[in-house]
Amino acid sequence: MKPPTPGMLAAGLVGVTVFTLMMVGPPGSYTPPPEPQSTGPAPSSISVNGFTLTSDTVDLPIDEQQYPDGPHADVINANCTSCHSASMAMTQPVLSADQWKATVTKMKDVYKAPVAEKDIPAIVDYLTAMSVAQDGAPTGKAQDTAPGTAPDVSGGTG
Ligand code: HEC
Repeated sequence: MKPPTPGMLAAGLVGVTVFTLMMVGPPGSYTPPPEPQSTGPAPSSISVNGFTLTSDTVDLPIDEQQYPDGPHADVINANCTSCHSASMAMTQPVLSADQWKATVTKMKDVYKAPVAEKDIPAIVDYLTAMSVAQDGAPTGKAQDTAPGTAPDVSGGTG
């Protein structure tokens, strides 16, 4: 018996390939399981060829993905938006610089946030300034009035 020629080998290979492709089926022939029926008010939807595209609107109370512009906003946006949106920090009560530092340290040590040590002061500065600006007046410490603007309560000279 003669050994198979390269041509015969090639033909066999093509045959096996075609057979395999026939068993697998053409790309896109996979049919996803049917969508579970949703309850509640029906959102607007459109059905084409068994696919249903639905459009729905959800109003979140606070939807700030990024920290608003300000000094060091770029640093905090680079470090603090990968796991949760900015609203996580924007909804905190007014905190002192030390308290913010503790939060940032917790993110880093407990939740393994990849925050560079050198970025922490900038982030704490941003958060402290944001926190105070957002709430108007800082709590805790009595408000100092700038010199010169204090009302004159001395009763005058005469
Ligand atoms: C590795 C993921 C990750 C990164 C990065 C991250 N956080 Fe968090 N953060 C979390 C988790 C997890 C929680 C807790 C969420 C919860 O309690 O539901 C959280 C909660 C918070 C809270 C809510 C108060 C608290 O103490 O739990 C604040 C504020 C906060 N993060 C600020 C920040 C700031 C600022 C940065 C950037 C320095 C940051 N996060 C980066 C994971 C992360």
